[in-house]
Amino acid sequence: MPGFFITFEGGEGSGKTTQLKALLAHVRTLQGDAVQTHDPGGTAIGNQVRELLLHGDNVRMSALAELFLYEASRAQLVQEVIRPALTAGRIVLCDRFTDSSVAYQGYGRGLDLDLVDRLNAVATGGLRPDLTFLLDLDPVVGLARAARRLAQPSQRRDRLEDERLEFHQRVQAGYRTLAAREPDRVVILDATQGIVELGARIRGYVDRRLRAAENGRATESRAR
Ligand code: TMP
Repeated sequence: MPGFFITFEGGEGSGKTTQLKALLAHVRTLQGDAVQTHDPGGTAIGNQVRELLLHGDNVRMSALAELFLYEASRAQLVQEVIRPALTAGRIVLCDRFTDSSVAYQGYGRGLDLDLVDRLNAVATGGLRPDLTFLLDLDPVVGLARAARRLAQPSQRRDRLEDERLEFHQRVQAGYRTLAAREPDRVVILDATQGIVELGARIRGYVDRRLRAAENGRATESRAR
């Protein structure tokens, strides 16, 4: 029985992690062993790669080296966590995935979009999310929210948050373009809505899509 793969995407300070956690609580009422993970990271190896990627000292990292590192972490995450969970029929919620590389390394850094797509396909073995929530937010607002979070003692500023505003504007535009290309998979949500309202909307989408997937499977098995 195939599982169901949901990803959350968005710029800095878009609130996607908060929404992922809220959805996890809901999904666990439906399937107790639903999995939560994040990209980059989510495995012991991936977390070491994440540290390299986000460390503020690594300012001289080339755009291509950066892309390869994200893909390396993702390849490990897919093999070790995501594929096995989906094969076991579990629902997987992932904080960022391949679309982040398209938005940040493709549109943000200006790397060739075909190259990013090809490396995404190789790293994931062609795995694509069933459903993606894009929390769309003006980076001026998002970076201000992220800055407030950084004012808390345990938080550290990461290398990408240090990028200039224009970089984050390209990322937002890139996200909107990729969402427009795949309207069936990517749901764009206005991230200025309240946390509770946004959460209810996301739950609504997920419930509908899970029911549709369930009905599709029932029809398939009757046809067999
Ligand atoms: P996070 O703070 O949401 O965990 O994401 C870490 C940073 O990594 C964030 O600035 C976005 C960036 N990123 C990329 O540039 N490319 C990618 O493929 C991924 C997954 C994240």
